[in-house]
Amino acid sequence: MKKFYVTTPIYYVNDVPHIGHAYTTVAADVAARYKRLCGFKTFFLTGTDEHGQKVEKAAHSQGMTPKELADKMVVRFQDLWRRLNISCDHFVRTTDPYHEKAVQELFKVIQERGDIYLGEYEGWYCTPCETFWSEGQQLEGNLCPDCRRPTEKLKEPSYFFRLSKYQEALLRFYEEHPRFVLPESRLNEIVSFVKMGLKDISISRTTFSWGIPVPGDPDHVIYVWFDALFNYLSALGYGWNPSRFETFWPADLHIIGKDILRFHAVYWPAFLMSAGLPLPERVFAHGWWTVEGQKMSKSLRNVVDPHRLIDEYGADALRYFLMREVSFGLDGDFSHKAMAHRINSDLANDLGNLLYRSLTMALKYFRGEVPVPMKRGGKLEDLAHDVVRDIEGFMNQEAFNRALERLWDLVKGVNKYIDTQAPWNLAKEKRQGELATVIYNILEGLRVTALLVSPFMPQKAQEIWDQLGIEAKVEGASIDELRWGGLEPGVRVRKGKPLFPRLDEGAIVERVEKELADQEGPIEEEITIDEFAKVRLVVAQVLRAERISGSRKLIKLLVDTGKDRRQVVAGVGEHYGPQDLVGRRVILVANLMPAKLMGVESRGMILAAVWGDGMALPGLGEEVPPGAVVR
Ligand code: MSP
Repeated sequence: MKKFYVTTPIYYVNDVPHIGHAYTTVAADVAARYKRLCGFKTFFLTGTDEHGQKVEKAAHSQGMTPKELADKMVVRFQDLWRRLNISCDHFVRTTDPYHEKAVQELFKVIQERGDIYLGEYEGWYCTPCETFWSEGQQLEGNLCPDCRRPTEKLKEPSYFFRLSKYQEALLRFYEEHPRFVLPESRLNEIVSFVKMGLKDISISRTTFSWGIPVPGDPDHVIYVWFDALFNYLSALGYGWNPSRFETFWPADLHIIGKDILRFHAVYWPAFLMSAGLPLPERVFAHGWWTVEGQKMSKSLRNVVDPHRLIDEYGADALRYFLMREVSFGLDGDFSHKAMAHRINSDLANDLGNLLYRSLTMALKYFRGEVPVPMKRGGKLEDLAHDVVRDIEGFMNQEAFNRALERLWDLVKGVNKYIDTQAPWNLAKEKRQGELATVIYNILEGLRVTALLVSPFMPQKAQEIWDQLGIEAKVEGASIDELRWGGLEPGVRVRKGKPLFPRLDEGAIVERVEKELADQEGPIEEEITIDEFAKVRLVVAQVLRAERISGSRKLIKLLVDTGKDRRQVVAGVGEHYGPQDLVGRRVILVANLMPAKLMGVESRGMILAAVWGDGMALPGLGEEVPPGAVVR
């Protein structure tokens, strides 16, 4: 029997689950359910990442121990997965004893390989991202290049993993496995990153204690990512359930967000190579969701709290929307307007209405009994066959949205079939045999649709089967049942309540807009006008600009502030070249304490708007003189 092992990232417990987490987990669930349907022996893993400084800090700020915080938060994740019908086979917590033991064992295996050594770590650490950065990688002002929050300087003894040793082996592996990372563009990013040169990475810390102790040196705890990645082995049974481990390892699919691709496509395979274990088949990096056009912030979270969305729209509608709305791999925007629109058009109109009108006809013309068809399904049968085949192709490359799009060709095809066959005319003309065939085909089309939609909307799929009078459970059905003709004549349909009630889109939009407007105002910590007045913002004109060698981001500027000429280092190099900057007027934080970036002194900081991967300098006209105050 073929096997399939799929994972989600394990979620940090310092935060409540949000729509981004729900997205990854729903996608993995869809993949798992589809493979089960196709007869694969499937193992689906999710869980929580409970160690590390971030969790320790969050716990302390709430007056709890990290374990107490983890115990409290893990329930939030588990509750949400239950409500979303996540069919995971195991939920791993990195504080589970089997996990801690496995991580220590693997640490020793890798150490014995000669790939771990004790050195001294000096660098900058971003706690929210649990990531180390070198001087050159940071943004000006010692900000993390990923989340742009301040990093902390650290110098401490540390164990290192010889990542540099695996550079060539990794490049060879990517070349031999061009579909190891999907979407393809993301593999290119990884290849360029590795080609730029890999440095050994620090894998232990001594400045806090919330983690798994390094075997034989308990002053150190193991770096949270080294700990976390091994969940994919430990939860499967590495060291404690060899038969399950042998059955399922290597993983067939790690679904992750694009922000954590480097850990999964560079560090993870290197750790596995070192441990002498086979590498996963595929890492799929999906995109990020914004909310109502904005980056998800704490205040926007309640607008898209997954529990609220389930209450308002239902779990299956939410699952459908997440999988249908954006191409898997690209970024997307969540809005209530788009959600309500999808539900009305795809679910209420196309699918729900189809079921309703089909059952109405079965009741009217055959007293609710599935009729015996006079001949095979013809064009509708052919369409269903093609759709089944195409969906398989899309699902095998995680093109979930395309699979749904194709499935809707069948839904629309059945609707069209009703319109062209016009059963009401056949009934009027008393062409009973043809009428039986048509009604049978419509109901059979719905049966197949429900089965194909079941990985995405398991509850609604079951409701369709129930209304069609099918006794069996959709969950547990097999691929063979996708074959045309499975609906048994003679069973009685049971028309129930509408599958998806229509929503009042206008009212929803109005309500959410009001909510967003009410939320406006200070979101972050408030400051006084006096505090703000401490920041001296002036217009400065760029006189000279040159790139700092060895850095993609940093550009050295000479600026005229109206009062003096000074050197400033700006982290804008990925969006602006020196030639774009000379002559330009920028806004400068003039009284910022001088700092050195990659050894180059910076006296002040220029302001830019940043969002996602984008950045823009504010535009100021030529009439604005250097030295003009911004306030
Ligand atoms: N603990 C690590 C993963 C370790 S895996 C061995 C972690 N956790 S996380 O809780 O911060 O993020 C988990 C997942 O949620 C990531 O895949 C991330 O991409 C995803 N998302 C977080 N915010 C998101 C959006 N706004 N949109 C889509 N997914 C996002 O990283």
